[in-house]
Amino acid sequence: MSSGRENYREDVVGRANVEDTPELLAYYDELEALEAGALWTVANKIEPWEPQSSSVPMIWRYRDLREHVLRSVKLVTPEKAGRRVIYLNNPGRRDVAAAVGWLYSGLQVMHPGEAASAHRHSASALRFIMEGAGAYTIVDGHKMTLNANDFVLTPNGTWHEHGVEASGSPCIWQDGLDIPLVNTLEANFYEVHPDLSQAVGHPVDDMTKTWGNPGLTPGGGAWDKGYSPLYKYEWTRTYEALSRYAEATDGSPHDGVLMEYINPVTSGPVMQTIGASMQMLRPGEKTTAHRHTGSYLYQVAKGKGYSVIGGKRFDWQERDIFCVPSWAWHEHANLSDGDDACLFCFNDLPVMRALGLYREEAFADNGGHQPQD
Ligand SMILES: [Fe+2]
Ligand SMILES: [Fe+2]
Repeated sequence: MSSGRENYREDVVGRANVEDTPELLAYYDELEALEAGALWTVANKIEPWEPQSSSVPMIWRYRDLREHVLRSVKLVTPEKAGRRVIYLNNPGRRDVAAAVGWLYSGLQVMHPGEAASAHRHSASALRFIMEGAGAYTIVDGHKMTLNANDFVLTPNGTWHEHGVEASGSPCIWQDGLDIPLVNTLEANFYEVHPDLSQAVGHPVDDMTKTWGNPGLTPGGGAWDKGYSPLYKYEWTRTYEALSRYAEATDGSPHDGVLMEYINPVTSGPVMQTIGASMQMLRPGEKTTAHRHTGSYLYQVAKGKGYSVIGGKRFDWQERDIFCVPSWAWHEHANLSDGDDACLFCFNDLPVMRALGLYREEAFADNGGHQPQD
């Protein structure tokens, strides 16, 4: 797969090219004994010509994982496990338990009548609901009811807990967090709620009813936190918005009809470190490839198709999860000629943008499509 990387030679002026001599090797040893080193021995490695992700393009197929996730219910209780979650392990990122880049993800399962203890942490978190009925989450005293394809925030520092009503059915949702990032920044705190659960202090779903009205903001509404007050983005409204937008746009050549979930107060990302979007690929739509910095984890919310990532094709259907590592070429295709397909995505774009590290490039050759392995 051509990435342009093979065009980068290290034997050029401006790159480190010092040949070892007995004198230099002795010198390096002396430096090493002082916990120091000569930059030219590592410079080309620590400053690659372009981003070199250690993450591997991956797909986790729901039909493979689902039974295993459900089996964990018999094996551990939420009380013992804290959170009953099967996490997604990228082969290149096992050392930091990341699904891709600095993003963690897992599948959490709960049976009717179960609840997990309330806690909070510096890591920002989100849920994307996969199946079941009667799930709820409580974030800082705000209780939200959850349905399939709803997208929910548990921003950094907020108390949160999850459960399933006794009248519900077994529920599975995807968790997404920036744990690896926050750990790398050495800034992660974790606290268990002193009462193990929190009182609901507001009408159910009040944040969505207050902040989730298109083009309208509550009179006198004040919000100055760094994350969105709209804790829950309902699927029905998201799908309606995409369908309406699709009537009015040609969409992006790389993403089809894509809308970003936003903080309605700032129009910025939903949380400071994690952004999210939902995109619709119209019947038969095939996008062209591009690449950009940042790490991206997708869940198929609707439909079936495939994505070509780093020159490899990954076929997907509803509930499958796949990742696009930083700077990997990728393109998407909807395999149905009659139905649209929808991809939920969360990513570290807010971090990339805030730090001035976002960069994007379109695949110029071969009609915009990657040659496949
Ligand atoms: Fe949590
Ligand atoms: Fe992309």
